[in-house]
Amino acid sequence: MLGAPGVGKGTQAKRIAEGYGVPQISTGDILRDAVERNTPLGTKAGAYMNRGELVPDEIMIALIRERLDEVDCQSGFVLDGFPRTNRQAVGLEKLMRSLGLKFDAVISLEAEREVLVQRLLARRVCRRCGADYSMTMRPSKREGACDLCGGEVVRRPDDNEETIRNRLEVYQRQTAAVKGFYAKRGQLRLVDGGGSVDDVFARVEDALSG
Ligand code: AP5
Repeated sequence: MLGAPGVGKGTQAKRIAEGYGVPQISTGDILRDAVERNTPLGTKAGAYMNRGELVPDEIMIALIRERLDEVDCQSGFVLDGFPRTNRQAVGLEKLMRSLGLKFDAVISLEAEREVLVQRLLARRVCRRCGADYSMTMRPSKREGACDLCGGEVVRRPDDNEETIRNRLEVYQRQTAAVKGFYAKRGQLRLVDGGGSVDDVFARVEDALSG
């Protein structure tokens, strides 16, 4: 699942994962968890993430190699937010080949920049269970508290205006080209990420079955 920050990669990847009974592998979630737990990976990655920069390729490729080796990936998986550079795409291609795996589809969600900025500025997340809220569309019932687990609902550290701007620039500069990598291989499917979550999911399902 490719696409710019805020386009809905995580939201749609979660639905695919639930629908097909496969794990969602979000590199952003894995890194955030490492930062929260203060692991060596978290210490290395945190500063890049707070600036909205990409974590170095060699760290990310090693992380994915380790994750795909886990037993729950044997009957499939959804990659969310990886690869983000051509080097990561080449690393993934080699890894998939060595594991005898092929993608069913490479989906890139597409939406206007202003839509992305508004979604990210409005987003709030539960620190405990990860539930996702939107200040404009789906606020938690009690401000700052999760409806599901009572955990603290906060803004992601990289969802401030300056870092959002940088994340979007980094996407244009380093990640958008990954679409070309998969287009050349005839695997890329562009999906309109605008409209409701259900509307987008219907388009994603079409792209998966097409
Ligand atoms: P990551 O966590 O992947 O952040 P991102 O790419 O900036 O993406 P987001 O999670 O912000 O957005 P999304 O597209 O998943 O949208 P979502 O569904 O959440 O990565 C964070 C950082 O980790 C990176 O900046 C980098 O530093 C590092 N990193 C991660 N992977 C890396 C890699 N491969 N290489 C190097 N570094 C890496 O939706 C956003 C909001 O919009 C939510 O509130 C959601 O509810 C809402 N929303 C979604 N769809 C809709 C809709 N249709 N209508 C209305 N609202 C919607």
